[in-house]
Amino acid sequence: MVKPVIIVNLKHYRVSSGPESERFLLKFVPFVDSYDIRLIFALHPIDIRLAGQFPEMEFYAQHIDPVNYGPYTGQISSQVLMDFGIKGSLLNHSEKRVQKDKIESTVQLAKDAGLETVLCCENYSEARDFKKFETDFVAYEPPELIGGNISVSTSNPNVIRDVVNEYSGSRSLILVGAGIKSHKDYHNSLKLGAGGVLIASGIVLSDSPLQALKSLIGIDS
Ligand code: G3P
Repeated sequence: MVKPVIIVNLKHYRVSSGPESERFLLKFVPFVDSYDIRLIFALHPIDIRLAGQFPEMEFYAQHIDPVNYGPYTGQISSQVLMDFGIKGSLLNHSEKRVQKDKIESTVQLAKDAGLETVLCCENYSEARDFKKFETDFVAYEPPELIGGNISVSTSNPNVIRDVVNEYSGSRSLILVGAGIKSHKDYHNSLKLGAGGVLIASGIVLSDSPLQALKSLIGIDS
């Protein structure tokens, strides 16, 4: 059976990126591999090299551009991420939207490089449109719920049910994102047929990020 996936997006919060990123990740070292989940941290671009320092952990990037190595100032190729031991990347996150006509080529370059992709969508119609790209994951994240305390898995479970149905038979697994805070949000997401969740503030901004992760998956201590 496939393990539930939890992607912790470290975004560009001060506590989880740049000078603080290593300290943040160290909190999770004792936890990695202890439970039956696939735990992935999505690193800010400036922290990509950290993947080499934490070989026991799985990392994604937060964004990729439609380029290979070459004369591309400030762009991030799937190839360089692979070379740094990054397993995959988010793409088209609400905070880093990609032009619609660039999605296909970016996904293809990622596939060519062997990188997994999480294509983010903001609504049902995008979810339906994105099916053709056959990414590893499609993350359903209503932008208005990002950073809040209400998850769509609790406030509007039917839309997740619909997206999961839309993708039945497809290779892409659905992740639920935005406002995921509690075990109920996580549990509901899985019950609705999602493959996991995409979460940021509920863990990153918690006073005790490791405890927040444990509570999310229903471990008390
Ligand atoms: O990438 C996940 C993110 O956009 C959700 O953020 O803070 O609502 O968990 P948050």
